[in-house]
Order: sequence, then structure tokens, then C-alpha cells
Amino acid sequence: MKNTPQNYDWLSITLHWLSAVVVVGLFAIGLWMVDLNYYSQWYKPVPHWHKSVGLCLALATLFRLLWKHLKGHPPIEGARWEVMSAKLAHGVIYLMLFGLFFSGYLISTADGRAIEVFNWFSVPALGEIFPNQADIAGEIHYYLAFGLIGLAALHALAALKHHFINKDNTLKKMLGVK
Ligand code: HEM
Repeated sequence: MKNTPQNYDWLSITLHWLSAVVVVGLFAIGLWMVDLNYYSQWYKPVPHWHKSVGLCLALATLFRLLWKHLKGHPPIEGARWEVMSAKLAHGVIYLMLFGLFFSGYLISTADGRAIEVFNWFSVPALGEIFPNQADIAGEIHYYLAFGLIGLAALHALAALKHHFINKDNTLKKMLGVK
């Protein structure tokens, strides 16, 4: 049953920090790989890793939301406006993540080819569902990626403000320390 714990559990903490590292890594690698030329040794493997890691992150994020729903989560601390804006920011971060997963899927599968996830399993393609799919999804993916990194930076600053200015338990809860 859902309850209201006082701290994040180790699985939520691990998923949070792993997701944070993977999001920043995918962003950096994404920016780098679009400028690779055909003759580079990285031209083929890097997009393959980007897609594979992105799809694993999509599965981990789905699991994270399910886990959050089952376990409950500690109350957000601070003034009413801080609680409201934190909830809004967390919701928008999740929405942007799913927007990125979905637009990434639409870019990769527009040519009808399935996505091979580390050669472990493949995600079937739906092909081109609408005209110029790869270009349109590519634009959305690009702007969402910058939006997510900007919002995540704001979110990190808010966590540091809670820690150093409000001196509350917000960051400690996500670090698993008391
Ligand atoms: C790309 C990077 C990041 C992403 C995508 C991200 C995403 C999230 C999300 C979605 C939540 C809500 C958790 C829930 O569903 O209950 C959260 C919570 C939290 N994050 Fe991050 N985060 C990132 C980086 C950071 C960084 C760098 C810090 C610290 C400097 C941080 C500190 C926290 C804290 C303290 C919470 C708990 C907030 C609370 O319960 O009041 N995050 N993060």
C-alpha cells in the first residue's frame, strides 16, 4: 500500500542519481554525435549507444514512476510556493523525459528500422507515421534536450538553496544521509 515515508529509499536514490548522470551524459554525447562525419570511427557505435542507453533510461523511468506510486514519497519541504513549484518542476521533468524518449523513437524508426538495444533486444519500428517525421521529431528532441538540462540545472540550484540557505532535509533525503 502507498504510504508517506520520511526518506527516499535506496532504490529511489539510486535511480535518481543514475538518471541524473545518464541524462547529462546523453545530452553531451547527443551534441557530439550529430557533428560526427561518416569516416569517423564513432559514426556508427555512438548513435547505437545513445539509442540503447536512452531506451534503458525510458524503462528505468517507467519503473521509477511505478516504484514511486507503490512506495509513496517523502513530503517536499519549504514554503507553499516552493512545494508547488517543486511538484510542478518534477512533473515537467518527467514529461520532458518522456517527450525525449518518444521523439527519439520517432527519429530512429522513421526509416522503418527497429532499434537494437545493445543487441540484447529490439524495439520494433512503426515507420513514418507523418510526413517529415525524422526532421520534426529531431527538432523537438533537440529543444526538449536543452529545456530538460536547463530545468535540471534550476532544480539542482533549488536543492542547493534548500541545503545551504533553508538548511532543511531536502538534499540529505536524496543523498540517503541524516
Ligand atoms: C539531469 C539531472 C536531474 C534530473 C533529471 C532530476 C530529476 C528529479 C526528479 C524527477 C525528482 C523527483 C523525484 C520524485 O519523483 O519523487 C528529483 C528529486 C530531487 N532531486 Fe533531482 N534531478 C537531477 C539532478 C539533481 C541534482 C544535480 C541535484 C542536487 C544538487 C538533485 C537533487 C534532488 C533532490 C534533493 C530531490 C528531492 C526533492 C524533494 O523531495 O523535495 N537533482 N530529481
